[in-house]
Amino acid sequence: MKKHDAKVLFSSKSMEWATPRDFFRKLNKQFDFNLDPCAQSHNAVCSKHFTADEDGLAQDWEGATAFVNPPYGRGIAGWVKKSYEEGCKNGTTVVMLIPARTDTRYWHDYVMKADEVRLIKGRLKFGGGSNSAPFPSAVVVFRNDRGHPVENPPSLAVM
Ligand SMILES: C[S@@+](CC[C@H](N)C(=O)[O-])C[C@H]1O[C@@H](n2cnc3c(N)ncnc32)[C@H](O)[C@@H]1O
Repeated sequence: MKKHDAKVLFSSKSMEWATPRDFFRKLNKQFDFNLDPCAQSHNAVCSKHFTADEDGLAQDWEGATAFVNPPYGRGIAGWVKKSYEEGCKNGTTVVMLIPARTDTRYWHDYVMKADEVRLIKGRLKFGGGSNSAPFPSAVVVFRNDRGHPVENPPSLAVM
């Protein structure tokens, strides 16, 4: 990878931290996702998805089982808020893959109210690249059917 590309890919300016495939496969086995509300048509992980033009933040996700790997950067707080709110709706489950930034306001305002938080051991390699991310990640689950946490969640350790 060229120095410039690496700089963009691993900076918070990059919106395109594509979910590692194996990692998604493992989660999808458990949740069976049917909505990717933040995607481009070429990187969507579900056939039903919303692009920036459609603005996933402005859409209703009710009834969906959504996988959300949001655009990183300042806007991430809005995606965490939206995911929390959608996860309160009937029959709706929202699973986020986000940086484990436990000192942020959005973490304290919303992630602390999640039904599950799985802190990932090791660093993910986004976008099929060979470099590990410079930040730790977490899987955060917001779902309406409160009181039914998953027993024995699959290990998401990545070294
Ligand atoms: C981190 S990437 C995730 C891509 C893919 N869904 C995945 O999991 O690998 C975030 C994506 O959200 C898209 N995006 C940015 N703003 C958006 C918006 N308002 N609504 C929907 N998608 C948006 C970006 O173009 C980018 O492709």
